[in-house]
Amino acid sequence: MRLAFLSAAALLSVLTACGGGASGPAAMDAATTQGSSAAWAWSLPSYFPLPVVPADNPMSEAKFQLGRSLFYDMRLSVNGIQSCASCHIQSKAFTDGLALSRGATGEFTNRNVQPLGNSAWHNSYTWGRPDVTTLEQQMVIPLFAEHPVEMGLTPANQDAMLARLGNDHKLNAMFFAAFPAEVAPLTLSNVIKSIAAFQRGLITADSHYDRFLQGKETLTATELRGKELFFGDAAKCSRCHGGFNFDAPLSDPGGNLTFFQNTGLYNIDGAGGFPAPNRGVFEITGQAADMGKFRVASLRNVALTAPYMHDGSVVTLEDVIDFYAAGGRLLTTGRDAGDGRLNPYKSPLISGFTMTGQDKNDLIAFLKTLTDNTFITNSRLSNPSQ
Ligand code: HEC
Ligand code: HEC
Repeated sequence: MRLAFLSAAALLSVLTACGGGASGPAAMDAATTQGSSAAWAWSLPSYFPLPVVPADNPMSEAKFQLGRSLFYDMRLSVNGIQSCASCHIQSKAFTDGLALSRGATGEFTNRNVQPLGNSAWHNSYTWGRPDVTTLEQQMVIPLFAEHPVEMGLTPANQDAMLARLGNDHKLNAMFFAAFPAEVAPLTLSNVIKSIAAFQRGLITADSHYDRFLQGKETLTATELRGKELFFGDAAKCSRCHGGFNFDAPLSDPGGNLTFFQNTGLYNIDGAGGFPAPNRGVFEITGQAADMGKFRVASLRNVALTAPYMHDGSVVTLEDVIDFYAAGGRLLTTGRDAGDGRLNPYKSPLISGFTMTGQDKNDLIAFLKTLTDNTFITNSRLSNPSQ
């Protein structure tokens, strides 16, 4: 059962670590894995692999602290009213509680904001972009996006933004400390590199469930029943939400290992259509089979990240579970009406199941064990000027 929690990559080491998985959770000790970089020590549970860090942006404490300052700095937006943290709020696991967010100039984003914990380990970034594969690449989107505007930078006004930062003597000194080999370190590229380094340091690994895995805490009877349901064959949650971040799919019945899945949320034309501009990977590839495919969301801190799904259209965890139990979503009225349960591109794993009220409570109780209170209150990750 517990093995289902682990990604295939982590499986081998764990089999050795806990003798084939037959022993209790205490066998999975909290031994930490240390990174090779002398400047940065990753402190991770034994079942976390080391994240991949781009060779041209190694981690350091000075860079992390600069990135932290910039993440909370409103001067990064065109009109000085928005920072990354305006939409990515620590107490909500770096989400904002809204279905859709609002950019600096008032435009709504097309998609629901994503949590940032453990984003160092994602294979791709944002809800439906297999082509955006590093945090550095991703950041260009909020900084420079035009449709819709998020922070409103343009090639024409980016120098003014750098000048705003440069006028701050303390911040200026932090750039020199973070990039000691450079004579003029106050550049857009270094803004991006340092915020990416801060984001790689946003590690959530101390939830109640992690403490259970490490033998430090026990799960209640309802949490344990919920765990059985989550990893069980009826609900099949862990078939897609597997691995240490609950976002790694196992192979589907066709043998395909894919991080992007259609869960049957929409079917606006009876032929599987999702409403534009939220058609998932289809927006990038134009391939019919990619219609409605979105990245499997990590379920760490999921109790804090409502509302749910790529467009925030599912309000509560109760609604999420009803949706999966129904094998997709039937919308009877409105612009997006249609029977998502019959979407031809839907994953065969979303086939519906029956559950009692008790089962539902148990499953939600398990999902709540993934909340990491250390992460959302850690002052190292908060606004340094408050
Ligand atoms: C206006 C609100 C807003 C602002 C400001 C904002 N973001 Fe986001 N962020 C979002 C939304 C919405 C998404 C989901 C985007 C999508 O899928 O199209 C997102 C996604 C992300 C992701 C992808 C996470 C993942 O799991 O793939 C990262 C990383 C991120 N933002 C970092 C940042 C950084 C760094 C900044 C500041 C430079 C920033 N964001 C500013 C709303 C915002
Ligand atoms: C076929 C793979 C698959 C299965 C099986 C699956 N999910 Fe998901 N899940 C996804 C994908 C893909 C998304 C993102 C969908 C979207 O936004 O359109 C998602 C999103 C979610 C979200 C929303 C997360 C957020 O931050 O918005 C929750 C909660 C969730 N799933 C819980 C579950 C539970 C509980 C089960 C078992 C009952 C389950 N999932 C089964 C693929 C799956």
